[in-house]
Amino acid sequence: MAALPLPLSQTLSSLLASPRTRRRAPRRKHPLPPPLANPALCSVEVERGVEFETGASFFRRESALGRDLGVLSALLHGRSTGRAPRILDAMCGCGVRSLRYLLQAGAGFVWANDANDEHRRLIVSNLARAGGAEQGAERRWVVSHLDANKVLVESYLHREFFDMVDVDSFGSDSSFLKSAIEAVKIGGLLYLTSTDGYSSGGHRPHHSLASYGAYVRPMPFSNEVGLRMLIGGALREATALGFHVLPLFSYYSYHGPVFRVMLRVTREKAFDTRKYCFIGYCNKCGNSQTFSWEELGQMFCPCSDGQVSHSLVVSGPLWTGPLHNADYVGEMLKLARELGWDHREKGGVDLGKLLQRMLEESDPNLPFGYIKLDEVILQSEPHPFCHIPVKKKLCFVHKSGQTLTSAVLCNFQIARRAKINSPPLSTLIITLQKEGYAASRSHIAANAVKTNCPMATCIQIARELRQNQRET
Ligand SMILES: C[S@@+](CC[C@H](N)C(=O)[O-])C[C@H]1O[C@@H](n2cnc3c(N)ncnc32)[C@H](O)[C@@H]1O
Repeated sequence: MAALPLPLSQTLSSLLASPRTRRRAPRRKHPLPPPLANPALCSVEVERGVEFETGASFFRRESALGRDLGVLSALLHGRSTGRAPRILDAMCGCGVRSLRYLLQAGAGFVWANDANDEHRRLIVSNLARAGGAEQGAERRWVVSHLDANKVLVESYLHREFFDMVDVDSFGSDSSFLKSAIEAVKIGGLLYLTSTDGYSSGGHRPHHSLASYGAYVRPMPFSNEVGLRMLIGGALREATALGFHVLPLFSYYSYHGPVFRVMLRVTREKAFDTRKYCFIGYCNKCGNSQTFSWEELGQMFCPCSDGQVSHSLVVSGPLWTGPLHNADYVGEMLKLARELGWDHREKGGVDLGKLLQRMLEESDPNLPFGYIKLDEVILQSEPHPFCHIPVKKKLCFVHKSGQTLTSAVLCNFQIARRAKINSPPLSTLIITLQKEGYAASRSHIAANAVKTNCPMATCIQIARELRQNQRET
């Protein structure tokens, strides 16, 4: 990386003076904008005790947990490095994250950027709540309205790296991945978002291939695939640049849906392709497995006795390693307790419970994916339907030949569930663990188990548990 001799102040001022920044008010020493004129747009929100306004900007209350996780990470980073972190919030919306990084994560400097300059007054007035100023010696924050890529590339070119870069983007925009990785200090954090549920659901394989380099097909654990697609895409970019990224935590939220991953950027390591490969799911027997690059062209499900498996669906390459770093999530949980955040806020998700679940999911013996309890029950009861490919699509087909629509199938599952006294998830997990398997809940799906136990054994265990239940 070539060093450019521009100091931070010069770089920022030159960026802020650029025509695309479009400052509206003449410069004053501490320019504080007047309150927003239209009271209908001045909705005041409070998050973990921090008050801010959202105006007409893009703001989702449901994303509060994602912001909590970002603040905890920034705070942990500051504690571990012993310095107040420099943070770039590349798509800041109303600036709530930047404000929280300043007030709650002890950030030394925050750069809040959003391409939409119509929210300038809103962002500046929110950040002013943190004290300090946008300019001058006390400057702790700065606001710009540039394309995120421009901010990221300029930061890299001027060697003004950040301890944390947060890119809260829409859809599967991955055009900034390279520049975001390059803007992070070695050992620093990169917080990425994707909201493309179609791609993770396998409905746009060419799109996921273009954005993240992964051909993704429909799988029952598609929401976990979404996280793995995002991590895998970042890993590929990082490797090409001579860096490495490792997931510290991965978080899926149903609203959106939203896929968030916190990655640590480190110097290049040998590319461990054992954790960046292909995953397969068999629609016939329900088993999942990883396929290495060496196995390309030799993929089949053991249930098909070495023959071509039409029931086998393969996606990849994706990140197949652990979704979280157990030590790191443990530290986050401790910190959440220390801050008194390990509880549910205003009807949202319980942060303590979420981190606890992530901790359980961090067991390195757990493979990718999860098994939905419905699926175990469905497969464990003899029933007149089978799951077979029909015109290249996998459908449930009655032995009479009638194809079931998903709505009918859903009713069928519910009806079966009503009749079947399914074992509670906790009982199934404890039993699997007693049998020597790794097993945990999944933070992604409430009624699912993550385990390295093969589907056939899971079904057997569920059947025995149900038998015991019936007898007692
Ligand atoms: C999901 S919202 C951000 C929400 C905010 N981070 C929060 O937590 O409330 C995404 C924001 O990115 C901005 N945006 C979209 N494309 C951008 C780009 N290429 N560069 C910078 N900002 C962009 C939008 O104006 C929008 O405010």
